[in-house]
Formats: sequence, structure tokens, C-alpha cells
Amino acid sequence: MTATTTASKPLSRAGTPSVSLRGLTKVFGGTTVVDHLDLDVAGGEFFSLLGPSGCGKTTTLRMIAGFSDPTDGSVLVGGEDVTSTPPHKRDVNTVFQSYALFEHLDVRGNVGFGLRRKGLDRRTLDRRVSEMLELVELADKGREKPSRLSGGQRQRVALARALINEPKVLLLDEPLAALDLQLRHAMQAELKALQREVGITFLFVTHDQDEALSMSDRVAIMNNGVLEQCGTPEDVYERPTSVFAAGFIGTSNLMSGVWSHGSVVVAPSVAIPAPAHHGSAEGDTVSVAVRPEKIWLGDHTDEMFRLPGTIEATTYHGATTRYRVAIAPGLALTVLEQNLPRMRAEDRWDPGDRVEVGWLPEHTVVLT
Ligand SMILES: Nc1ncnc2c1ncn2[C@@H]1O[C@H](COP(=O)(O)OP(=O)(O)OP(=O)(O)O)[C@@H](O)[C@H]1O
Ligand SMILES: [Mg+2]
Repeated sequence: MTATTTASKPLSRAGTPSVSLRGLTKVFGGTTVVDHLDLDVAGGEFFSLLGPSGCGKTTTLRMIAGFSDPTDGSVLVGGEDVTSTPPHKRDVNTVFQSYALFEHLDVRGNVGFGLRRKGLDRRTLDRRVSEMLELVELADKGREKPSRLSGGQRQRVALARALINEPKVLLLDEPLAALDLQLRHAMQAELKALQREVGITFLFVTHDQDEALSMSDRVAIMNNGVLEQCGTPEDVYERPTSVFAAGFIGTSNLMSGVWSHGSVVVAPSVAIPAPAHHGSAEGDTVSVAVRPEKIWLGDHTDEMFRLPGTIEATTYHGATTRYRVAIAPGLALTVLEQNLPRMRAEDRWDPGDRVEVGWLPEHTVVLT
């Protein structure tokens, strides 16, 4: 989507947060589904709320938009407390998963709907609608009915309809979920480019970790109504702070063990050296996580922690090969190796091969 009609505004990360949640809580019939959320989203930020089905993402968005009253806590938009402000008076717009287009109106009618209700004069309205359609590359579809559009095109109509109101914040609830994989990837890139172009704060809900990592400035991981971790994509992937975060984003080799003299003993014969961990004492049970792509088979350097192992399974995945490597009875690691240009089939390890696994100590993440 090459957007040319809207002047790009610089991202403003400093100053007043665009959206702030303070102790935001929702209780449905005695069950707390959103539990004291505290969050600050910066102006112009692409911020994703990531979590499994039922963890409270939509409920959180609905409270920010004003469609649902919090049981406790408050919502601030641009520094102003809007907790008691009706939805249409909040400077936010929502794009729902089901685009909810008006089927009896054509594309132009859909996009101009919000502005027409504000009583804008005809010429200005026409110009703004045309600008928006150009922005989302639907200039030639203005007179089509939504039923004649593809999923991706409908998606873009829904976006244009929300963006035309120039909200401070756009709330997007799994907007790409209905699209097939190829279109979804294309729309991810387009949506990200569009967000940069218009400089509006995006609060994006998804349960797709890949989508969250590739699109966001920051990601908040939500589980059971609670924020588990919030940080840049690299933060949450490389340095997860909870067992849930480590398991939910990507794959991790998660092992439980006992903290002892600067190591975590995960099997009688396996003590994994670990960085000092705040709050853990000798004898405490902790978890360690190592990402599969951080582990090397062969070509080790001196600073790596190394362990003998036996290949249990080898699976070819095209771009990568995945190994299961037993390092103790009942304990195996997953190792992901890139299939590099010079690699041949005979270079791969086979089940039964004795190997040495190794990784840099800083890639051991200790979790409690
Ligand atoms: N109106 C309601 N009345 C009672 N319970 C509700 C209501 N809306 C949501 N819930 C419950 O609150 C919890 C969180 O729902 P929510 O829709 O926020 O989840 P979600 O994270 O958006 O999930 P998904 O990824 O499946 O969309 C769920 O257990 C759901 O059943
Ligand atoms: Mg939802």
C-alpha cells in the first residue's frame, strides 16, 4: 500500500501516553476476566496485546472503546480520564474481527459513514473519502458493494472507515484472523506501513505470536486476565520473564530443576550454569529455558556450555532441520539448525548418533 495522500506525522513517543490503563478490571458473574491491568501505550506506537483465546483481550479493548464498563480502574486517552465518557465521544476507533460493513452501502458510503454523520459538507466529504480509498488502494472500488469484495479488500474498507475519523488511537481486534495465510502476510506488511504513514497509535489484538513479533513496537503478553510481560519483540522473545511467556512465544526447551551453586540441576547428571537469579536461594525449584535455535551441534567455542547427547529424532523442515537430542534419561532438547547453502543431506545427524550440544551461557534464561 503506497500511501501518498496523507502527510506523515512524526512518531511522538515522548510526552503523554496515548492510552493508559490504571488497575483496569472486569468481573463477569464473579469471575475476574481482566485483572488490574496497568499499561501505557505511547503516541504513534504499534502496540500488540497477545494472548490465548479467552484471556481477556477483547474485553480489554471493549473497555478502552467504551462499549463495556470496567468493574474497577480507569482508562485514559491522551492523558484524559475517559472512563465515564460514552464511546462516540472518545478519540478512539475500533476495527473488529468481523468487519461489520454496511452491506446496503457501496464502498464510498461505508468509508464516508462517520463523517457524514458529523454533517461534513458534500465536497469535503467526497475529497476525504477519495483520499482514504487511495491510501488503502481501493480507489477503483468506490462504487462496489462490500459483497463483491475479497476478504482483504473488505478489511481495507473497514480500516479506511476507521481512519477517516482521524482518531488518536485505533483499536484492532484480530483484524486479519479471517484471511488466508498468504493474504494475511500481505496485509500484515500493508497495515504496518499504513500505521507508520499516518502515525496513529495502533492497539492491536492477536493470538498469533508471529504476527505480534513482526508488526509491533512493543508486545504485551496476557494470560488469564493478567499481563505477564510487556516489552519489545526482542525482549519478550529473547528474555521471557515467566514460564508462560517463554512457552507461549515461539518454542522453548523448558526444564524444571533445583538451584544449586550457580547452576540449575535438571537431571542427576546435568547441571546447567545459569546467570544469578534474583530471589532464588539454594534448593529452590526453578525453570530454565533455552531456545532451540540457540543450541549448536558441533563447532563449539570455548565459552559455550557443553553437554553430551544422543540424537533421538531428525526431522527435515526445508529451511531448517529439527533434532531431538536426549541429554539424560527422559530428558531431551529440541535443536533447530538452519539448512545452510553448503549443507548436504549426508551432513545431517541421524538417530543414534552421539553428539555434543552447546550454547552460550547468556542464552540460558532462568524463570520462576
Ligand atoms: N459478556 C460476557 N459475559 C460473561 N462472560 C464474558 C462476556 N464477555 C466475555 N466473557 C468471558 O470473559 C473471558 C474473556 O473473554 P474475551 O472475549 O475478552 O477473550 P479474548 O482474549 O478476546 O479471546 P479470543 O482470543 O477467543 O477472542 C472469557 O472467558 C469469556 O467467556
Ligand atoms: Mg477476542
